[in-house]
Parts: sequence; structure tokens; C-alpha cells
Amino acid sequence: MRISGIKVGTVTSQSLDPQTFLAVVHLTIDPSIKLPVDTIATITSTGLLGENYLALVPGNDEEYIKQGGSIDHTEPPINIFSLINKFVGSGGRPRRRPRKMATAHLPNSPVRPGDKVVEQHWDPARYQRNAGFVAVLGQPVLELLAPRPAERILDLGCGDGALTAVLARQARVTAVDASAEQVAAARARGLDAHVADGAQLGFAAEFDAVFSNAALHWMRDPDAVIDGVWRALKPGGRFVAECGGAGNVATVLDALHTVMVPRGVDGRAVSPWYFPSVDEYRARLERRGFAVASIELIPRPTPLPGRLADWLDTFAESFLAAVPAQERGAVKDEVEAMVRATLYASGTWTVDYVRLRFAAVKPSRGTP
Ligand code: BEZ
Repeated sequence: MRISGIKVGTVTSQSLDPQTFLAVVHLTIDPSIKLPVDTIATITSTGLLGENYLALVPGNDEEYIKQGGSIDHTEPPINIFSLINKFVGSGGRPRRRPRKMATAHLPNSPVRPGDKVVEQHWDPARYQRNAGFVAVLGQPVLELLAPRPAERILDLGCGDGALTAVLARQARVTAVDASAEQVAAARARGLDAHVADGAQLGFAAEFDAVFSNAALHWMRDPDAVIDGVWRALKPGGRFVAECGGAGNVATVLDALHTVMVPRGVDGRAVSPWYFPSVDEYRARLERRGFAVASIELIPRPTPLPGRLADWLDTFAESFLAAVPAQERGAVKDEVEAMVRATLYASGTWTVDYVRLRFAAVKPSRGTP
């Protein structure tokens, strides 16, 4: 049994629970090591021909497992042989079968104590190459906004400004983004763009609408964001947005979590994304005083322009930064191998995006 590759104990016995058919594994562990109750265990291997061992990833909970206690959180084992068989067995070609949406099995809490999220860096040229579809596919949310020429609109999380430029042809737009590089790219399009933290917006009753596409899921303090949007809006103003919702990119996310375990990394602690459900986000909006006109989850399988590895380079920096530089290629290869049967067909990777799209209104009278 190992933590971060270091042996910390041994497996003393194994049996099968005849009722549940789950494996029951008894362990002894160095008594100086206190494991939080949300520790994860997975069976993994030291390499292609190496021995199997139990890898533990300590969680963040302040409560510790007591002597005689149990680890209830497990990840599916990474079986390198089945991965290879899956690929070789299909003659190197993807198996044809209907794409299915996976369900993320991890709790969706935006900020947890002890998180180690690394700030994402945006390279506008790489973004344009690997994520140009983001602006193109943002058209429906622009239609939901239905901007009018005299309106002042705030674009929250404008990225490189590709969609903002379309919006700016229809209304008077101010744009903000947390990335100085993306703001520079937006300004190069002639947009009024500024660097700002979405959780600390400093506008007061200035806008007829706040618009956001594919950005809110990067802002992990949603109540602070909603609060800033509320303050930025005039009475009667609208908040119209689309972001990743519950189940978004779940197949990739599950694979990322799984490949992190034997590397001693808890994927939950490094995930930079917040994918809320309809009920959760509606509750947050209503708690602040918004009237929710519409809110829905929309599955939108999205073909990528290149490899999934390029998508990971563009969007999953926080996961990749959690492992040593020389391991990152292997992480991307393992994720691709794990999800290939589900997400790759006819030469195209298609990621299981799920959008949360909503329109909410700040009432003309009432809550300050
Ligand atoms: C999204 O737009 O839903 C998204 C993009 C990259 C990473 C995670 C989510």
C-alpha cells in the first residue's frame, strides 16, 4: 500500500462480500499516518509488468479515520492491460458503438478547503486553434439575450473576444476577463475590454444586461459572481448566460480523476471547474433576488478540431500541473486511451459537453 509512491502499509487479507460482491480488503498502516475520512483508494500497478498495489490519496476532511475504520471511497482500478487490449483488440480502430454520456460521480462543491487549483493560463493563438468552436457555438445564448442597439451590456468572461465582437455589432458592450492575454486579444479586435476578477466585479447599476458564455464554470465562488452581476445591473436588467452544467465533460473528467490517483493526486482538489445543476444554480440566483425566466441543461456533444490531448493542453492545465512535467505526456495518453472507445469515431474526438443555459431578471423593485 502506497501514498505518493511510498510504501506505508500492507494488505493483510482480502475476501469477497457474498451479498454485495464487493472486494473487502483488510489493511495495516503505519500508525503515525492519519488518513482523512475522504481518502480515496484504488488498485494500480507499478508499470506494464509491475506488481499491483493499493494507492491511497488522502482527502481534505478534518476528520480522520479511526483505528478499525474503513475507506469507503474507491476509484475504478487502472488496468493497463485492458486498456491495451481494448485498443489492440479493435485493430487500432475505435469500436463503433453509440456514444454514451457518463455521469460525474464526484460531489460538485465549488470550493473545498485545501484545494490546489492552479490558475489557467490562456494563449490566445492556441485558444483560437483548439477552441474556436466556443464562440461559434455561443450563438444560441446570444439569441436568448436578444440585445437591443441602445443597451449597455457587460460580457463577463469575454475570452479572446470572438463572440463579444458579434455582440458589439448589436449593442454597446464592455467586456471583462481574468486573463490579461485574452483581454489583449479582445482589445486587438477593437473591443472595450478590461482585466477583472468575476468574483469581484466593481460595477454599480450600469448595465441593461450581463452576458456570459463558457466562462462561469471557471469561477468557483458562484455566489460572489452572482452578487457582482446583481450590483452591475440596473433594476429590470437581465443576466443571460451559458456555462458547463452538471455532467459536463464527465467522461474526460472521470478519466482525469482516475489517472491522477496512482500519481498521488486527488482530482477533486485540482479541478478548476464548477458544473452546477439546474436546481443548484436556480437556488443561488433566487437567493440573491433574481427572477429566473428560464434555466435548462442541454447536452451538446462537441466535435474537437484536433486531438483530445490538445484540448487537455488548452483547458486542463490545473490537472497537468499537478504532476511532474515529464509525466504530463503519459497522463494525456492514458486519458485518451481510457475514453477513446466512447469519444473517438471516424477520426474525430467528440467531447460530452453539457450546457447550463439561463435567463434571469433583476426585478425593477424590491431587494436592494
Ligand atoms: C466548457 O466550456 O464547458 C468547458 C471547457 C473546457 C473545460 C471545461 C469546460
